Amino acid sequence: MSNQNTRTRDASGGVVAHTAVVNTASLERMDPRATKRSDAAFGQSRLVFKDLTFSILREGVEKLILSPCSGVFEPGEMCAIMGPSGCGKTTLLDMLAGKKTAQYSGEVFLNGLPRDTLFPRLTSYVPQSDTLPAYLTVGEALKFVHQLRVEGNMTEADRDAAVSDCLSLLGIDTIQHELIGDEHERGISGGQKRRLTLARGLIGGSQIVFADEPTSGLSSTDAETVIRAMCVAAKKLGVLFVTVIHQPRAEVANMFDTLLLLTSSPGRMVYNGPFDGAAKYFAKAGYPAPNTCNPADFLLDIITPGAFGEQSNYFAQRYVDVQHQDVEARVAAALSAPKKTSFEVLKNAYAIQGFSTSALHESPIAATFSNQFYTLLSRELTMTKRNKSALRVRYGTAMMQGIIVGCAFYNIASREPILQLSFMFMILQMGTIANMAILPKLINSRFVYKLEISDGLFGEVACTCVNALVNNTLAISGNFLTTFILFAFSCMPWKHFGTLYLWSLLSFCVVTSYLRVIAQIARSGDTALQTAMPFLLGTILFNNFFISRASGTFLKFLIYVSPMAWAMEQIATSIYGSNEQMMSLYEYKSSDAWTTVALFVLLSESVFFQCLEFVALRRAKGAIR
Ligand SMILES: Nc1ncnc2c1ncn2[C@@H]1O[C@H](COP(=O)(O)OP(=O)(O)OP(=O)(O)O)[C@@H](O)[C@H]1O
Ligand SMILES: [Mg+2]
Repeated sequence: MSNQNTRTRDASGGVVAHTAVVNTASLERMDPRATKRSDAAFGQSRLVFKDLTFSILREGVEKLILSPCSGVFEPGEMCAIMGPSGCGKTTLLDMLAGKKTAQYSGEVFLNGLPRDTLFPRLTSYVPQSDTLPAYLTVGEALKFVHQLRVEGNMTEADRDAAVSDCLSLLGIDTIQHELIGDEHERGISGGQKRRLTLARGLIGGSQIVFADEPTSGLSSTDAETVIRAMCVAAKKLGVLFVTVIHQPRAEVANMFDTLLLLTSSPGRMVYNGPFDGAAKYFAKAGYPAPNTCNPADFLLDIITPGAFGEQSNYFAQRYVDVQHQDVEARVAAALSAPKKTSFEVLKNAYAIQGFSTSALHESPIAATFSNQFYTLLSRELTMTKRNKSALRVRYGTAMMQGIIVGCAFYNIASREPILQLSFMFMILQMGTIANMAILPKLINSRFVYKLEISDGLFGEVACTCVNALVNNTLAISGNFLTTFILFAFSCMPWKHFGTLYLWSLLSFCVVTSYLRVIAQIARSGDTALQTAMPFLLGTILFNNFFISRASGTFLKFLIYVSPMAWAMEQIATSIYGSNEQMMSLYEYKSSDAWTTVALFVLLSESVFFQCLEFVALRRAKGAIR
């Protein structure tokens, strides 16, 4: 490789370009802890936390989950959080990473200052469960993160090289072109997904990577490879890794610098210090690890409540007596050290990596709006195109619905206008039914979006716009197919099709936007339909056909809210306006001004729900944690 190429690659790849010479094979032969800090090491962030505490309200009583935890993590450190299941490891990691949405107390400082809006841009989070887009290849999923997180004028080849290096580092380069997959589409294995999730955290050039059990589900050999890769990135680039890990084998444990050991019921600190000092600390207290046993297993055995011979309460108290003061002193010293703002850190990191800092902006999202929009849009289009079975089901169902209902209304044009009106109602109704079918897809994708938004890859506006564009196009084209077939079966004059379709489309768009809000706020796919029902029922019932202004019910004011009612009235008045019997039977109003009002109401309702979707996305950044 020429000098020029080396420089360009170095400038482009963030974490990964600098580890490019290291692949899985060479990793296994080296001692990652002996890796020298590179000249291009951009990691310079120290994380300090003080009295992080989490309690929940259960039946009106406050229950302590995690008692106050404090500590200091330095740049380039490998920090492990360990403890029995349910002791609050994920809770602590989420609080540190700013991902905990439930209320907690305590403070977290980045380089001496409270976390600010740039924090998501400087950090990555690797969740305990893999939340990955199913219809992307492994390489595409990584490149997506690189495009949005790592700025700078770089070529596609630079980005591809960074992706290959990252995959090679984690030993998954052979599956670069394979689909990730999900329960419907066969894809990569669970262990490969785990490594890809970690790779997504690594590739963004973060100062700090928070990883929740990055090795769960991996064979012990693969787990070691993954931790080695993290260790190389930490030592070489100064990236701080804060990792929740379950019972690492000795070779893996040796790669960690710091250990934060918690016990459960409630979560309490039992040890906070150097990893290799833990065995000595416990031995000094009269509990030396037997030679025959993995020290990490031994430590967990004696601090797990309920385990044979456990001493959890003793060690929780011992932490208060022996270590607490020392930890508090370290926290105080770290907080009195010179401070750096997140923007200063970002600028430094850019300069070190050879990026131009002139265009650097102080926004929580690295990519410009147009970059967010086009990157997200091209991913959505790729995934939609690949998910052929979903496309087949969508358009197949749309056609079948058109044909079946069309047969029921065959040649309705030859019947009385009043009967034709039930056909118009059916067209509007079909739109609502077709809409309900998209709810599960919307709910499945929301977890991916929320995680990506909380990671600062893109904002809610770009996400809402792309979602509206892609999903509305799909929904509208399916609905057009159904309406077209239905209309053909009805044998009505084609001159009415435009009017009928326009108003049914407007009503359809309101319902689609409404369901997109439900997809954001419903707790799960199971409850989504129940959540959506009240409005849908109101829409379908108060439709200016079943219930019109002529009906006696005191609820008839709902006609002014129901999009179907507005559409129904406009269709009826424009096609049968001269039929006075029908106009007076349903008390339909017909005037240009009233048509303008109908147009205004339908468009406003659509925009209102789009805004609500945006607010819902913004309020719930990430699932409830
Ligand atoms: N938002 C919340 N509301 C209610 N309970 C919560 C919330 N967050 C965490 N908990 C509770 O806190 C406890 C600790 O959870 P956490 O997920 O942190 O444990 P963990 O140590 O990561 O366990 P594991 O090793 O099994 O992953 C659990 O009992 C969990 O139910
Ligand atoms: Mg956990």
